[in-house]
Amino acid sequence: MADDIILDIRNVTKTFPGVVALSDVSIQIHHGKIHGLCGENGAGKSTLMKILSGVYPYGSYKGTIFYENRELKLEDRAIRQAIEEGIAIVYQELTLVPSMTVGENIFLGKEPVENGVINWDKLYADTRQILEKYKLDVPPNAVVKTLGVGKMQMVEIAKALSENARILILDEPTSALSESEIDKLMEILETLKEHGVTCIYITHKLEEFFRITDSVTILRDGKTVATNPTSELNHETLVRHMVGREMKERFPKNSRKPGEVIFKVENLVATDPNEPSRKVLDGVNFDLRQGEILGIAGLMGSGRTELVTTIFGEYGNIISGTITMDNKTLNIKSAHDAMLHGISLVPEDRKGQGLVLMQPILRNISLANLDRFAGFFRIDQDAELAAANQQGKNLSIKAANLQDRVDSLSGGNQQKVVIAKWLLTNPQILIMDDPTRGVDVGAKFEIYKLMNELAENGVSIIMISSELEEVIGMSDRIMVMHNGRSGGVLETQGVTQEKIMAIATGIEA
Ligand SMILES: Nc1ncnc2c1ncn2[C@@H]1O[C@H](COP(=O)(O)OP(=O)(O)OP(=O)(O)O)[C@@H](O)[C@H]1O
Ligand SMILES: [Mg+2]
Repeated sequence: MADDIILDIRNVTKTFPGVVALSDVSIQIHHGKIHGLCGENGAGKSTLMKILSGVYPYGSYKGTIFYENRELKLEDRAIRQAIEEGIAIVYQELTLVPSMTVGENIFLGKEPVENGVINWDKLYADTRQILEKYKLDVPPNAVVKTLGVGKMQMVEIAKALSENARILILDEPTSALSESEIDKLMEILETLKEHGVTCIYITHKLEEFFRITDSVTILRDGKTVATNPTSELNHETLVRHMVGREMKERFPKNSRKPGEVIFKVENLVATDPNEPSRKVLDGVNFDLRQGEILGIAGLMGSGRTELVTTIFGEYGNIISGTITMDNKTLNIKSAHDAMLHGISLVPEDRKGQGLVLMQPILRNISLANLDRFAGFFRIDQDAELAAANQQGKNLSIKAANLQDRVDSLSGGNQQKVVIAKWLLTNPQILIMDDPTRGVDVGAKFEIYKLMNELAENGVSIIMISSELEEVIGMSDRIMVMHNGRSGGVLETQGVTQEKIMAIATGIEA
């Protein structure tokens, strides 16, 4: 084996009941480089990374892995052993304990102890040192649940780096990060590279491969399709290898014509329910037409998620302002109220709010709709299954069996289950908070098509998105938020990314 190869994965095969997740996968990863891993939802990326990090120990898969010229056998305490070997991973789904502080999370299970008690001063000093070293802007003693998803991701990275990692695996690290946080992450990766750390980088944002990686391996249906130096790849070849066919358009055509205004938000002001002195919405105004897709753009923390969860009755305390639908004032106090008015919300954080992980896929899809399937004494399981099957097909959810637990699905497919569930409620207004986060290019297109179809059938959609191309590609109009306010509602026709960013950053009102 060549000296510059740190990791040599040979003929790895991993199966789950009914699924071949990895089939004869071979990849060589060079020392000190950033190696990209690309593939559709369910292609096997996370499974391979879980093998490298000891989640699936030696013996639970076939094939051989050489790490620094030795065979890697992670056996009894496999996860701990991987960390001691210097293989660190930041998982696709956040794994922090929400009620603990940043420092407690980073040192969980390895707290500095002196005379049998935890040395808190040292713990926080060490935390501060790590955060500063990698320029991560998070307060060491903040309780994690008070942080936004972006900051939580930073804590995950700090936690992985807190032991001397030789290989750092990042499984979709940027799916919840803002533009500036992504820039920061890229800087961190460059720094790590200078220190000789090897990185394996998974993302569905294809432009990131071109920005940061040295080479890319493409997986399709558990098989290695190709490994190439990034310089020899372009967007089209990457997509073609990934999905196995040409994909020319990024956004499907539509022929919708939005109708009358059916929903209106006026001067909405709301405070944080946990911190009543803090205004999260400070005067929001917009209206929504029937059969329209209204995009909401804005930086992380600008109040986008707060706005939709407040409308949905789940979050802010409304201080003033009105919400009207069909000329009637709404007074929504809970998600249940919202649904009675025909409003559904696909939430941002699928693991926390969207799914019951231990339940079957089927039940997760029908969960918000059990009323519909409930007979006098029991749930009509045939109807439930038929509806779930239809949704599964519409969204091409990749599952061996709908009776399997939802946490056996790949990350992107879990996201599709959340969408399927809320589509089944037949909403009049569908609010989607970053609906294509973590979803591959092919499935994104399917979700876009579905959104267009819904809108053509008269459903009004509010879509929050951090990807400006997506907002522009899908919306009829775009509201840009800044500091809890609606910075303006723009007609999409003729709008530019620069214009949106100018409003989002407050340069332009
Ligand atoms: N614990 C499990 N039990 C059963 N099947 C599983 C389990 N984990 C993964 N799978 C299946 O293995 C396949 C590969 O999943 P994996 O999570 O590796 O995909 P991925 O490439 O990471 O996708 P994504 O981009 O959506 O995150 C999928 O078909 C998935 O349903
Ligand atoms: Mg994955």
